[in-house]
Amino acid sequence: MLTSVNLSNRLSKQLTTEIEVFLHTIGDAASRLGYNTYLVGGAVRDLLLGTSTTDIDIVVEGNAITLVKSLPLGHANVKVHPAFGTANLKWNHTSIDLATARSEIYPQPGQLPEVTPSNINRDLFRRDFTINAMAVSLNRINFGELIDPYRGLADLKNRLIRILHEKSFIDDATRIWRAIRYEQRLNFKIEPETLTLLKRDTDMLDTITGDRVRRELELVLRENKPEKVLNRAGELKVLTKITGGLVEKKWLAEKYNEARALGLSDTSLITVYFSLLIYSLNIAELNKLTTYLRFTRPVFQILKNTLELKEQLPVLEVSSLLDSKVYFTLNEYPELAVIANLVATDNSSIKKHIENYLTRLRHIKPRLNGNDLKRLGIPQSPEINKLLHILYVAKLDKKVITKQGETRLVYNWLRERENNKTK
Ligand code: CTP
Repeated sequence: MLTSVNLSNRLSKQLTTEIEVFLHTIGDAASRLGYNTYLVGGAVRDLLLGTSTTDIDIVVEGNAITLVKSLPLGHANVKVHPAFGTANLKWNHTSIDLATARSEIYPQPGQLPEVTPSNINRDLFRRDFTINAMAVSLNRINFGELIDPYRGLADLKNRLIRILHEKSFIDDATRIWRAIRYEQRLNFKIEPETLTLLKRDTDMLDTITGDRVRRELELVLRENKPEKVLNRAGELKVLTKITGGLVEKKWLAEKYNEARALGLSDTSLITVYFSLLIYSLNIAELNKLTTYLRFTRPVFQILKNTLELKEQLPVLEVSSLLDSKVYFTLNEYPELAVIANLVATDNSSIKKHIENYLTRLRHIKPRLNGNDLKRLGIPQSPEINKLLHILYVAKLDKKVITKQGETRLVYNWLRERENNKTK
């Protein structure tokens, strides 16, 4: 006999009181409308794994939008999408997605599915893996009960990533990346038959748009240890579907560790990760990759600048260089391209110069600016830029320290120029 598993205690322990109260509220409101509601997907998986989550997905057997409209939602930011029968509620750090239970049919591999309203079992059947295809009832009569038609709990206990049907990767090849990502994040194994199908269907990655592939990659790079996912993707010949020539695995693990230690923001870290991943490509290969993956303009610019600066790095191999030389070699590149090269290089002299630039040199400025120079009698002309450059060099190389010193330097320069004219 099957015994039912009830997760009410876990819901209390692992979710914030606010979310727990909300789940009861929504279950009660749904019952009044004659609907059933369920917590689904990643939140259920994470509850069973003992981790907390603030990303909540709810499936409604009934009309999700009618349900949302019946809720008391004082402080939430509410967005409804009638065409899709979905709604999103946001407050503080909580995000709740509601969707009408649906079945999906994939007309062509890689295309978005045709969707029809359905029930919870079929809604779970359309999902990627058994561990993501469980639900928890929010209905008053069996609140907290686990709905597990595809043996997700058993797979979770056995630490397995398993698809629900043989055509899963053909329908949606992004699941290939997802399987690898979950496997590496959770320290699970892709179940042998699923692995065979994954290998069989790797070419199906060609059926999805580059834009979707890039979004999967971004999810990979948001993981705590993206290098684990990328290495496994390399092993399974999934990485080469993006492009050949991406960097080698031991190197990447070392460099990603180093990049993480820099304390960058999440977005900056992802850009640096991308820069390191493409570090062994040339500009032509990067252009081709960008046409496929559709990097945004600012990200592409940083990737391109990273490769351009890589070409300049030999200049910094000399250990005793004037600070001004270091400054002007690096200063025309965006910060993240400089950081990517700092991480990428193994040359201690280059590293030392880049660190000096990032921590000290880039903050140094002459006291005199363009307006000051105009006040000293230099007309608006290319000469101003020339003089500013001279001031920067002098300041960086400690030839002048004070404002008076800078002013003296300008007057000397002007005098010399006059002398040259009269010669
Ligand atoms: N899903 C799916 N196939 C996809 C994407 C998503 O079946 N290609 C389903 C899964 O059931 C998944 C749910 O939609 O659990 C939510 O997707 P998403 O937010 O991407 O994943 P989470 O499970 O929440 O995982 P993560 O922890 O990575 O956010």
